[in-house]
Amino acid sequence: MRLDKLLADCGYGTRSEVKKMIRGGWVEINGVTARSGDQKVDEKSDTVTVDGNEVLYQKYVYYMLNKPQGYISATEGHDPVVLDLIAEPYKDLFPCGRLDKDTTGLLLITNDGPLAHRLLSPKHHVEKEYIVSHERPLSDADIRKMAEGITWQSESYRPAVCRKIDEHTCSLTISEGKFHEIKKIFEALGNKVTALSRIRMKNLVLDGSLAPGEYRPLTDEELQDLRQDS
Ligand code: URA
Repeated sequence: MRLDKLLADCGYGTRSEVKKMIRGGWVEINGVTARSGDQKVDEKSDTVTVDGNEVLYQKYVYYMLNKPQGYISATEGHDPVVLDLIAEPYKDLFPCGRLDKDTTGLLLITNDGPLAHRLLSPKHHVEKEYIVSHERPLSDADIRKMAEGITWQSESYRPAVCRKIDEHTCSLTISEGKFHEIKKIFEALGNKVTALSRIRMKNLVLDGSLAPGEYRPLTDEELQDLRQDS
């Protein structure tokens, strides 16, 4: 791949910015100063450094973020966005899916479009589990209605698995990702969500050691599992 593309993908700047760095003599390939952005590098075997620091090229990166309240699930905007929390300079990172501004918990941040597409595709019914705090206690009839699927304000929501934790808290597993889905389901039941936190997507479970706003790379096992079909 071209040297300028590799550096730009790794977040060192735009193509023209990295070309300037190269012309300025900051970049070496295998210990030899690079002179031009169109030089070819083998990202697997060549050692590229910028100002003496090795560039570790990965085509795709994957971070598990514990999203705090007050952040929008977007790449940019007027309000704080989840990508503001990610210090790694990788290019084209985005949140895989959308949590409301006031929802907390598990959010995958990646630049792997094909994987995100599979995880988010309505065809695949990927499970998402939330801890829901709600205003009124849930009745058995409410839980049954959620299990059967709910239609509300001309929108149908697929069956959801609800497990009561206490009078004002439950775990709810849904397999689609419609706009405000859980809030709408509770609204349909004449109830109200007072707090919402995602704890699982497929088999990927939020790491309890991550404080709100913290993130870590996925482990190989977590990634392999996410990549598996079904
Ligand atoms: N359902 C909601 O209502 N909000 C979320 O953020 C996620 C699921």
